Amino acid sequence: MLPNFCNWLSNTPLSVKIQTILWIIPAVQTVHILCVAIIMSTMAMLDFRLIGLAGTRQPVSGAVRRWVPWVWGTLPVMLLTGCILIIGEPTRELMNPYFRTKMAMLAIVVVITAFIQLRNRREAYWESRALAAKFAGAFSLLLWVSILTAGRWIAYY
Ligand code: HEM
Repeated sequence: MLPNFCNWLSNTPLSVKIQTILWIIPAVQTVHILCVAIIMSTMAMLDFRLIGLAGTRQPVSGAVRRWVPWVWGTLPVMLLTGCILIIGEPTRELMNPYFRTKMAMLAIVVVITAFIQLRNRREAYWESRALAAKFAGAFSLLLWVSILTAGRWIAYY
């Protein structure tokens, strides 16, 4: 089923265009990687604050309000650029276990980030739960680093 879909997709006019116009894939990859830089730096700032390793002069609630919107702003661009890369090389991406693992971890980290943001609406929620904040920060950081690693490994499968 999926191999047939990949085969069909790679023969569509849009995919053929992406495959034959040589600058498209490197240009789109560049934007994707710039977004990786944005999302990793902002999420590292947030997660280190949750863990208590950096930015401790600022309350956790302020850090959540400051950094989380960067994720919601960057992810749509990553989704768009990622989809262009998939359309250009469907079999390479969709049949790849690293790609699938990356997407599964991304779904989990999106839920965790939304949870951190939603709970932050309650007065001093994370400030009064230092251990839970540390755990959420450490788990989120582990997932982001794993997503980045899986993204890089797609090329080597
Ligand atoms: C939003 C949904 C996303 C989609 C659909 C997507 C899709 C893709 C695709 C198709 C590739 C090309 C892989 C290849 O052929 O080598 C890729 C590369 C990559 N992605 Fe994503 N991605 C997404 C989000 C992310 C996120 C959130 C991160 C990290 C925080 C990330 C990190 C990477 C990295 C590091 C690469 C390798 C770039 C390279 O070496 O050229 N991606 N992604």
